[in-house]
Amino acid sequence: MADDVESHYGGDGDLANAIAESLRRAGKDIETLTTADLGTVDEFHIRGRKATLELAQMLNLSPASHVLDIGSGLGGPARTLAETYGCRVTGIDLTQAFCEAATTLSDWVHLSDRVSFQQGDATDLPFADAAFDAAITIHAGMNIPAKERLYAEARRVLKPGARFAVYDILQGEGGELFYPVPWASEPAISHLATLVAMPPLLEEAGFRIVDMRDSTEESQRWFEAMAVRLERAVPAVTFQAFLGHDFPLMARNQVRNLQDRRIRTVSYICKA
Ligand SMILES: C[S@@+](CC[C@H](N)C(=O)[O-])C[C@H]1O[C@@H](n2cnc3c(N)ncnc32)[C@H](O)[C@@H]1O
Repeated sequence: MADDVESHYGGDGDLANAIAESLRRAGKDIETLTTADLGTVDEFHIRGRKATLELAQMLNLSPASHVLDIGSGLGGPARTLAETYGCRVTGIDLTQAFCEAATTLSDWVHLSDRVSFQQGDATDLPFADAAFDAAITIHAGMNIPAKERLYAEARRVLKPGARFAVYDILQGEGGELFYPVPWASEPAISHLATLVAMPPLLEEAGFRIVDMRDSTEESQRWFEAMAVRLERAVPAVTFQAFLGHDFPLMARNQVRNLQDRRIRTVSYICKA
């Protein structure tokens, strides 16, 4: 199962190289790259950097904070937090190729002193108890069936009173999903929680939910706009760099999944 998730995301190529190539095609120079230049490829979730910043402002971050990003992907959210708040961020991700690319991308934008990435499983975190001041997880729970373990591990590594931001895609009331979607080519590696299941999952792990937001309507508009852009021409710097040529089909499916409320995007701000 974990191998299937890793091969879905990691492919078999050098991801940083593929992204560098796409940036060159877009006329960007790696030497003068900014985090904003990377935002269309390294913030791998619905509503991109805007959604990351919305979550971050609920985390009480300061330059002294050490944040854990669970399922850190290519590292966009980690770099956004480090750049905006001056904090330190450790990312953990199952996909080795993503961890390697995340490290290279951080070098490009000179943030390697504040962000680092390591391969590991969210359900068995290689960190001591109470090691972090805050944590985020964005669009990773959808690949993880053992959600009790996922949230229990997040609670274990957080200091008492620390905040935890969860932003995920949930199963909606509109029925079965259309596949492929960006996190799964087929249903076997898709494990969506429901709106009803999430609060008890978080509370039984030891969290108190202090805020909850359903952003489905905004997500629908975001994906509709992306699908229109992809109809015209696939932009150089986009998730296609690692999702491959199925990406336009995935985007069309996401529009249908969101329009029919087969999926919802929901965030929870929790206190440990
Ligand atoms: C859709 S991507 C989101 C990446 C990143 N959070 C972002 O928003 O840009 C989902 C990520 O979750 C990771 N992932 C899936 N299952 C995981 C697990 N059990 N432990 C750690 N990471 C996992 C995948 O490798 C992938 O990088």
